Amino acid sequence: MRIMEIMKSIEKINNQKASLDEIRGLVSEEWSLLDQEIEKQLSSDIELINNVSQYIVNSGGKRIRPLMVLLSAKACGASDIDRIVKAAAMIEFIHTATLLHDDVVDNSDSRRGIKTAHQSFGNESTILVGDFLYSRAFQIMVQINHMGIMEIMSDATNTIAEGEVLQLINSGNPKTNKEQYLEVIYRKTGKLFEAAMVAGGLLSNQSQTVIHNLQIFGKELGMAYQIVDDVLDYSSSFEIMGKDVGDDLAEGKATLPMIYALERATPEMRQMITQAISNKDAKNVDKIIDCIQATGSIASSINDAQKKTEFALHSIQSLDNNSYKEALINLAEIILHRTY
Ligand code: IPE
Ligand code: IPE
Ligand code: MG
Ligand code: MG
Repeated sequence: MRIMEIMKSIEKINNQKASLDEIRGLVSEEWSLLDQEIEKQLSSDIELINNVSQYIVNSGGKRIRPLMVLLSAKACGASDIDRIVKAAAMIEFIHTATLLHDDVVDNSDSRRGIKTAHQSFGNESTILVGDFLYSRAFQIMVQINHMGIMEIMSDATNTIAEGEVLQLINSGNPKTNKEQYLEVIYRKTGKLFEAAMVAGGLLSNQSQTVIHNLQIFGKELGMAYQIVDDVLDYSSSFEIMGKDVGDDLAEGKATLPMIYALERATPEMRQMITQAISNKDAKNVDKIIDCIQATGSIASSINDAQKKTEFALHSIQSLDNNSYKEALINLAEIILHRTY
């Protein structure tokens, strides 16, 4: 990447960080309680569990999903801070557990700018500590003691697992179409964003209509989040996103930029991409990235993410106006333009 481009990206990140921090600042009290809750709930008398969980939890995740729980709850006027903070911590634990497992399945070497947990501690410890975090999330859920939340969270974790399995089935298949892709990203990512928003609504005893609107917001924004992630996999760098470029190709994942490129490429390039996906071989990643760029496949994918973001924003129009709703709107913009 040329120096100017790197400078521009860093500038963008700095701007983005400032505004994410601004949003966190709006819920600063809950945000520091969340930190304390996560720290408290991580503890185990098994040292290896503490080592692996501290390693991942302290590596600098953006905590977008818990932020959504807090904003959704506050936007709807919830006041039970203890429950809200516990719900936010529980969602982050589920997310973290899926990342531990996902990096083993995807054979990824880097996350958040450092070695993945399985590269540091091995697959066995990583899978088992992922299970620890999952089950701790369910213990927190029992403490929250809200049947509606148990229902959406047990559905969400089940759906995420289905999404990851569906993705595994599709991997290595260059014929994966857009519909199949959208199904996977809804399940593996959209569903947890949806649960985060709905949890906030449930904790403030909102009507079915409001809950439905929050659900749509989470679903659409979560899918946009994953589309952007899949775009970054071909257009960012390790320095900026903290993950390795081309990971998806190496795993034979036909993500949205790839689906567009396959439709639009010359026969020679189409053959190269088809082979790369079928053989899960990233050796031609540079040429394939050029093709993805030249065919406008990045732009089309971002355009799809933008439409989903607009749809998400539309769904919360009828919520009462307050600073938390404003923050949700800003968060949607940040998610769409994020670079890491
Ligand atoms: C990574 O999620 C997995 C996806 C769903 C794309 P995040 O981008 O939220 O990861 P962290 O927690 O901030 O590192
Ligand atoms: C998101 O998909 C994984 C989960 C929802 C568990 P990715 O595989 O694209 O996420 P990264 O790129 O590894 O963070
Ligand atoms: Mg992955
Ligand atoms: Mg990814």
